[in-house]
Parts: sequence; structure tokens; C-alpha cells
Amino acid sequence: MKSTLLLERSTQNMPLGVADSYRYWGPNETVFVDQLTDGGFTDVDGKEFIDFRLAYGPIILGYRDKRVDEPVIQWIREKGTMSGFSMQLDSEVAEKIKSICPNIQKLRFANSGTEAVMGAVRTARGFTGRQKVVIIEGGFHGLYDEMMWKSDIESWDPQSGKEPEVMSFGSGLAAHSRDLIQLIPLNSLQALQQVFQKDGEQIAAVLIEPILGNCGSMQATQEYISQLRKTCDQYGSLLIFDEVKTGFRVARGGVQELYGIHADLTTYAKAMGNGYPIAAFGGRSDVMDMINFSEQGVVHGGTYTANGVGLAAASATLDVLIKTNALRTVEETGQKIMKLLARVFAKHSVPLSFSGPGSMFGVHLSETVPTNYRDWKMTDSDLYTRFAKSLISQGIMLEPDSREPWFLCEAHANIDFGRLEDVADTALAKALQGS
Ligand SMILES: Cc1ncc(COP(=O)(O)O)c(C=O)c1O
Repeated sequence: MKSTLLLERSTQNMPLGVADSYRYWGPNETVFVDQLTDGGFTDVDGKEFIDFRLAYGPIILGYRDKRVDEPVIQWIREKGTMSGFSMQLDSEVAEKIKSICPNIQKLRFANSGTEAVMGAVRTARGFTGRQKVVIIEGGFHGLYDEMMWKSDIESWDPQSGKEPEVMSFGSGLAAHSRDLIQLIPLNSLQALQQVFQKDGEQIAAVLIEPILGNCGSMQATQEYISQLRKTCDQYGSLLIFDEVKTGFRVARGGVQELYGIHADLTTYAKAMGNGYPIAAFGGRSDVMDMINFSEQGVVHGGTYTANGVGLAAASATLDVLIKTNALRTVEETGQKIMKLLARVFAKHSVPLSFSGPGSMFGVHLSETVPTNYRDWKMTDSDLYTRFAKSLISQGIMLEPDSREPWFLCEAHANIDFGRLEDVADTALAKALQGS
């Protein structure tokens, strides 16, 4: 297989033979893509896939969407890539975001979700003068030291009566970063109350994905988000919504439109540029204005910040999302696929539940919808993985881990749903046989 040969070659050039450790799937399973098209791709061995992984979320319209690519190419031809100076385009894109996200009064741009989270957290610390950040078990906020601590749910015994251990995502982290973070389970008002009663005066912010895009799209309840908002206000802590996955995907105005509750700061990335590297963080003017040159001011910037390529892509993507019903199509297509999967699982009498919206839904093999990462332990994630691997072998790409949602894009409206149902049926039958 060409992909196996390519991996042998790339192993000479990069650790694990890949540019991102999560792309390594094993000596014969690591995927090498040749060409992306609409809602799928062809790999280097000529195999075609419908792709529900979609690069972990950025693709909201489809791969190689001309409505985005052509304005970007035109921008590069006519204006150039970047200069390290300001452009009119900076404000044009900011104003488009503000027109659909009323929670944003001022913002700054970044190049990745990680960078946007770093900017938001630093701004929150600068504003509050406090150090600690509360994060939610099962959330993910990028690969920088303090966000690389997690509750070890995989080894946790729910019957033990003990709290899960906190562990790092690998070595090399600054050890003190552990002390800056406090992990709590989603939807537990008791845990929220306890952490604030103990450390409330030191908490700069709560950082949360209200729909856990890295934990099967499990959703915060409306009551939890309302209480979280009140608690942050009561203690003078900031509420940061990490909308790197949900922004410009679950609704034009992201989760804040769905919940009707605004964060003080929000991070965006992924769907904002339909695959081009562009991100942002922003929120209340008084908080964002902490980014200044005073002695107390927060520093933010970077060589590639607000480069023309990323901004031209964001401008074009936002235009499509604002002017068309693309997001409604994405949502309806996701709902259709959930129904199709429900029929297949019912046929085989396997319990199934979904969490999250159609645009990024989680599939859980359990009678009841998990409410937080601890509940995930009660789902049959091994059967899910066998099911997912069988789908992959038949040309349906997704992450073989039920903590990663199915991502939808507008182009998926044109897939062959009948074929998808047949393939899912065969895949589940095989998975139940243990293969
Ligand atoms: C919610 C969330 N925040 C932050 C990040 C980090 O984004 P990036 O990989 O662009 O640095 C991710 C990445 O998946 C994410 O899902």
C-alpha cells in the first residue's frame, strides 16, 4: 500500500512519521490523503471516503468550497499575504463576527484555537488579577501546558467512591501549571459550588465548552449554564466559552445563541475559516481593553496575527454563513443521519443515545444520554470503536473514539444516505461479531 510506504518514509523525517501525534493510527492504518472534495476525500491508495471527521471541525461548508477559495486566491493575487501592519479587512471581519455574535464587543485575531484560548485566559488573568482557571472534565482547550491536565476517567473506578486522578497529556509540561487548573465534572452544581466556596477569590475564570466538542458533544444543561453565569458574577470571576468547535457551527452565534446566555470572553477558530488557519477571541470591551501598553496591560500579538489569507477566508466563510441557509442544511443533514443510525441500532437491538446538535453530534452506546465525562464510562465505547473501524474500512471516515463527535458540513446534504444506512448496518453486524 502506498500509505504504508509513505509512513515508512515519513518516519525518517518526523517523530511517529506524522506532523501531529493524533494522526498516527498505526503502521497500516495511518491515513495519507491525496485529494479533498466536497464532503470527503480520496486517499493515496485511491480509496474514497465520506468524511465525518472533517479535520476535527473546521470544514463547515465542504472541502475546496469555491465560495471561500476563490475570494482567498483573488485576495492573494490582488493584495498579497501579510505585512505585519493593519488592514481595513481586520475591522471588516470583526464587524461580521459582531453582527452575528452580540456577546462580542471587541476582539483580537489568532491563528489557532490554542492561541485564542491562551489570549483569552491571559486577558482574564490580567483583568481579574487572579491566577486560577476552572475547567471541565472531558473538555479540551489546546496543547499548551496548563490546558494539558485532565481527569483520568479511563482508569477511574466509578464504584471506588474516589475522585478521578488528575494526569497530564504526556511529559514536558511545566509542573507548576497543574496548580493553576481546577477540574470539575460538567453539570454538577455541587462541584461548582464547592470549588468556588474553597477558592472563589482566586478564580480568574471558568473556561468551558458548553457542548463538549471533545467529549461526545455532551451538553451543559440550561440550568447549569445559568448557575455558572451567576456564580462567576457573584465571585467576580470571568466566564469564558471556548467556542473553537461550536462557533459558527451549531448556530450563527454559536452556543450563546442556543443558550441565550453570554460569556465575558469567547474563543473562536475552526468553522470561522472553513479550513484556513484563522481564530479569534473577544468579548466585553472593558475586559478586552486590558490589552494595552500600561504597566498592568496584557500583551497580545504575533507575526502571523490577522494575516490576509486567514482573514480573507474568514470574511468569505462568514458571508456564506450570514447570507445563506448553510447552517440549517448542516443541522438538518445531521438530524437525518442520527435518525438513520437510530434505525440501524434499533434493528440490532443495541442501545443508542445521541448528544449535541445535528451539526456535531455525539453517538453513545448507552440507554441514557451521558451528562458528563464520568457517565461516558457507562457507555459501550469498545463496541463503538469496532463499529467506527468497520465504517472506516467501508469508506466512511470518522474518529474511532466515541469522545469525538460526528462533524457535518453543507456538502454532506448530497451524500447517498441509502448507502450510508447499508454500510452502517453491515458495520454494526461486524462489530457485534467482535471484528
Ligand atoms: C474546544 C477547543 N479548544 C481549543 C482547541 C485547540 O485548537 P487548535 O488545535 O486549533 O490549536 C481545540 C482543538 O480541537 C478545541 O476543540
